[in-house]
Amino acid sequence: MDIRPMRSWIHHSRGTVLRQAGVARHEVGDLHEDMLTRHGFEGRDAHLYRRNEPTAWKRAEGSGNHLDIDGRLLEPSDLTHANGGPLRLFHNPDVSIWVSRRSANMTYSARNADGDELYFVHEGTGAFYTEFGPIPYEPGDYVVMPKGVTYRIRPTGPVNYFLIVETTEELGFADIGPLGRRAPFDPALLYVPSPALDELGDGRTEDGEWPVRIKLQGEYTSAFYDFDPIDAEGWKGDLFPFKINIRDFRPITSDRIHLMPSAHSIFATSTVVVGNLLPRPLEAAPDAEQFPPYHRNMDYDEFMFTHSGTALGLPIAPASVSLTPRGLHHGLPTSVEEELRKNIKPGDRADFEFIFVDTAQSLTPTPEAQAKKREEQIFRVGLGPATITDNDAFEVPDND
Ligand SMILES: [Fe+2]
Repeated sequence: MDIRPMRSWIHHSRGTVLRQAGVARHEVGDLHEDMLTRHGFEGRDAHLYRRNEPTAWKRAEGSGNHLDIDGRLLEPSDLTHANGGPLRLFHNPDVSIWVSRRSANMTYSARNADGDELYFVHEGTGAFYTEFGPIPYEPGDYVVMPKGVTYRIRPTGPVNYFLIVETTEELGFADIGPLGRRAPFDPALLYVPSPALDELGDGRTEDGEWPVRIKLQGEYTSAFYDFDPIDAEGWKGDLFPFKINIRDFRPITSDRIHLMPSAHSIFATSTVVVGNLLPRPLEAAPDAEQFPPYHRNMDYDEFMFTHSGTALGLPIAPASVSLTPRGLHHGLPTSVEEELRKNIKPGDRADFEFIFVDTAQSLTPTPEAQAKKREEQIFRVGLGPATITDNDAFEVPDND
């Protein structure tokens, strides 16, 4: 393994602090633990012990505020038109985040010349018919479509929901440390397609032409063929589309300390991290905290998508989308943590499934995303509980 340098030796403590941050918060009485970090959760950091909850602002104005969206209300053109496409929600020069709700076979073949595409399947079954062979899909799948691969999506039924993360830089797997080659998933679990041409005859216009719609610099160019351009009978090499399902990802857990989301990363470029928060046992040691502290992740914006599950038993809305820009604090209100803690029993597990995307450059929401903003922001967390649907289940602090 690489020899890793000491991360930092400049640590100071002043005033009232916990010697072990993130554990036994009751030892600082009514003070609230607040984490300020650089480079995600891997760089220099500080913990502050505050008298007041840093999320309890009376009012926040400006473009750097949290954004919660009900993803069920998004209507990409591919929801109603076979020749339509996905809807872009957020973007920066490194990454764009899209939603597709394709309801019928594509009448064109797609090829992205701007970047790699990571499809996360929230709903639906079917197949990506690619020039490397078909990749069947089901909920929980990540389908990685490298830049330049030609493909068509063939849903089995009309109800499909894809989250698409498009990265300018080549997307690879995240390095989450010296865990061995088989954790958090065995590379043998990747599904790699084999050519299987079926000549179904889809991917055509009404005129009988087969267009390949190429995306370049955000614009589309179509090349028209008299034959199906997906026609390879063989392929070789180390560049290919593939998929893996979240059930194949075995979360890294700790009994004694709450691990930050970077421990649950799966894909990354040098400026984008994609991860998943998946079912796992809750921290059970007597002094362990099950919740992250208030924090400001100052070198990343945090995007979150709710796939399924509950917030420790409380209902959450699937396909909820949130953006937590750097700057403002986020974290569960203490009153909510206390309410949730009452329901936690030894041996309990979290059953939520969230997909997150952290971006080094700030994300800009599109007008289409802003149009579906939830006016009623229940919690300032930038995480699933922001989408708790049953807000009568516990007392919501009056921040307004
Ligand atoms: Fe966060």
